[in-house]
Amino acid sequence: MTLKLDYTCLVSGGPQGQVGVSPAELVAATRAHGTHLAALKAARAAGQLGFLDLPDDRTDVAACQAFAAARAGAFQNIVVLGIGGSALGTLALHAALSPALHNLKARSLTRPRLFVVDNVDPTMVGGVLRLSNPATTLFNVISKSGSTAETMSQFLLFLEALKASLGDAWRRHVVITTDAKSGFLRPFAEANDLACFTVPGNVGGRFSVLSPVGLLPGALMGWDLDGLLEGARAGRDACLSGSFESNPAAVLAVAHHALDTRLRCNVQVLFPYCHRLRMLADWNVQLVAESLGKRDREGRGVGPTPHKAIGVTDQHSQVQLFAQGPADKVFTFLRVERHPDDVLIPKAPAGLPGLEYLDGKTFGQLLEAECRATFLALVEAGRPCCEITFPEVDAHSVGEWLMWQMTATAYGGQLYGVDAFDQPGVEAGKNATYALMGRKGYEAEAARIRGRALSDPKFTVG
Ligand code: PA5
Repeated sequence: MTLKLDYTCLVSGGPQGQVGVSPAELVAATRAHGTHLAALKAARAAGQLGFLDLPDDRTDVAACQAFAAARAGAFQNIVVLGIGGSALGTLALHAALSPALHNLKARSLTRPRLFVVDNVDPTMVGGVLRLSNPATTLFNVISKSGSTAETMSQFLLFLEALKASLGDAWRRHVVITTDAKSGFLRPFAEANDLACFTVPGNVGGRFSVLSPVGLLPGALMGWDLDGLLEGARAGRDACLSGSFESNPAAVLAVAHHALDTRLRCNVQVLFPYCHRLRMLADWNVQLVAESLGKRDREGRGVGPTPHKAIGVTDQHSQVQLFAQGPADKVFTFLRVERHPDDVLIPKAPAGLPGLEYLDGKTFGQLLEAECRATFLALVEAGRPCCEITFPEVDAHSVGEWLMWQMTATAYGGQLYGVDAFDQPGVEAGKNATYALMGRKGYEAEAARIRGRALSDPKFTVG
């Protein structure tokens, strides 16, 4: 294990007497751990938790790398068309593992630039269309269901542009990632002899970052996929440990659940003190919200509200609220020990007195000091906080953390009494969209929606 979790300040009566999970709750959790772990292992043995097995699968990595090698140098841009779990993992890995500001660099790059189009806002979609040169772009269409309206509409647009510009050669510019059977994409890929990768049936969208969903863009971008999967494997093994105290996923799930349900700390703030880790927070928002925000067995709406804050940026935006606003939040700081590309702060010239304290320090030291200071300030304000330390931002540590979070979410499903792997609330919205857009087979849903008063506003301003 290369990551370190320090949850001292999530436990009540800690250094500053902050609210937190009680020592008695931890003892009870230690006893209950065997049952939760057994349930997790049984679900895995029944083939329901495919994400836990992804780090062991060498076939997909090899296939993604072979595809990338065969296309090496052919494309200046990779454009991913996808949304939700088909987009956020790739965005998170791109921010963490591609060189800083990669997309802004000159076109003489050895690796292409990567863009993820995860919206249907016409300004954005039209802008990408105008900017992308089909001749030098590879489109990776990613949709597990193979039918999501957002991704399908984007695909239609870019497919037309590719055909108009390249004729029959368009086929080399599209690669599909989808389910083995369901949806429109698989038969289309087969009919047109397109390169096609599979999202395993037992891996849901938001748990799919270590499948070809994230691996294919990763292979094309040259990320260290072996390190990523090795880290994920180490993370997975730690999260399946029978010892509660040394199982990061179980500890995080238990502490967060107790803070939410007993102490009303329902807002879970993920606070990366690292620009490269910022998009992990977006990925985490979907993972937690869509997995745990549900009706439980008694029909009660349950689940934490995941939230994103970025160090140091949000010290000057949200920390005032965090320190003195409602006591409804729990904080997870992501801290990085080493910044290999650290930058020295220059000595202040004469005429700028008072800045000597910065002399000889680095930006990494300043970031670390601000991380420590904010952690301390929140703990002193009585806020429950924990800290996960990354020795460095690399593929191994990122893979490990992704697996911690996904497994903690699976444990969280058991604690909240919900199915962490379905998303009925999302499906309802998808179906209503199909109905409003006139999709065949959704006529009854369209009639139901027309019967609602939503199109008859009674209270309006402006
Ligand atoms: O986690 C999930 O299952 C969802 O967020 C999906 O990823 C999202 O709705 C996109 O679905 P699809 O990949 O089928 O296009």
